[in-house]
Amino acid sequence: MTKEIILTGDRPTGKLHIGHYIGSLKNRVEMQNSGKYDTFIMIADQQALTDNARDPEKIKNSLIEVALDYLAVGLDPAKSTIFVQSQIPALAELNLYYLNLVTVSRLERNPTVKAEIAQKNFERSIPAGFFTYPVSQAADITAFKANLVPVGDDQEPMLEQTREIVRSFNSIYGKEVLVEPQGVFPPKGSGRLPGLDGNAKMSKSLGNAIYLADDADTLKKKVMSMYTDPNHIHIEDPGQIEGNMVFTYLDIFDSDKQKVVELKEHYQTGGLGDVKIKRYLNEVLEAKLGPIRERRAEFAKDIPAVYDMLKAGSQKANEVAEQTLAEVRAAIGVNYFD
Ligand code: TRP
Repeated sequence: MTKEIILTGDRPTGKLHIGHYIGSLKNRVEMQNSGKYDTFIMIADQQALTDNARDPEKIKNSLIEVALDYLAVGLDPAKSTIFVQSQIPALAELNLYYLNLVTVSRLERNPTVKAEIAQKNFERSIPAGFFTYPVSQAADITAFKANLVPVGDDQEPMLEQTREIVRSFNSIYGKEVLVEPQGVFPPKGSGRLPGLDGNAKMSKSLGNAIYLADDADTLKKKVMSMYTDPNHIHIEDPGQIEGNMVFTYLDIFDSDKQKVVELKEHYQTGGLGDVKIKRYLNEVLEAKLGPIRERRAEFAKDIPAVYDMLKAGSQKANEVAEQTLAEVRAAIGVNYFD
């Protein structure tokens, strides 16, 4: 039986944080290690450039940070093909053919892109490449004939758009060339990890993130600054656990569930101080993040080796994408000289 094919990726616009870890990286490593899939992991530098065209340095620097984060959490180039979008020219050509199958009004309906346009205050000055990035994402996915795409909930519209393009393409050009992908989403309720400040989203722009690369002191400082219960002033006061980030994080990161139940009870009755629970959370996080940080530092000692890894992965990915492009060209009929 042929293996199922996974493709997923990240925009390199900064280092990855523990929200990425909980929301996707952990699951990717498990899927990779199951041996059941052919896994492609893409660093989407071209997609990152669609709204950072004037800051290419940021993308260049983030590329290596993201690669280090991948290696640190256990993505393994011996098991997964880790590659760089810009090094796969076939993706840009596929994008060009797919753009003809999509209307401007369809693109305008994409809720994730709409939200990003509002958040970035683009108003009418949206870069055209940014506006059409869901189409380029369809190229990323279909180039590898991926049937499974593990991503966050916000990526569902991209998958819907990809399936529409696949159906149009196969019906117009009369060949079963492209494969319809399914999204693989985080289990309901596991939700997204909120920020240190209690904001629903952990993100670099909000300054409320713990990075996989943070050293032990930084981690501790961040944990000690976390949003808890603003009305829990004296240790003996009863405290609230809803919306209290320390307990939200303990629920997610502490495998000793019984201990968490006890701490919650104690906190709600009163007599358990914030400093104490924060110190405990710090220990829990340090136990998880310490080994990741150490592996990251090990890989960071040899950056040329990391580039070599990306280059080898990109060569491998390139062969696969070129094969799909040849089929696409043949289906459209622009293979005049074959
Ligand atoms: N849009 C994704 C993100 O912002 C990154 C991405 C680019 C991607 N191409 C992809 C994800 C293809 C899955 C499949 O995180």
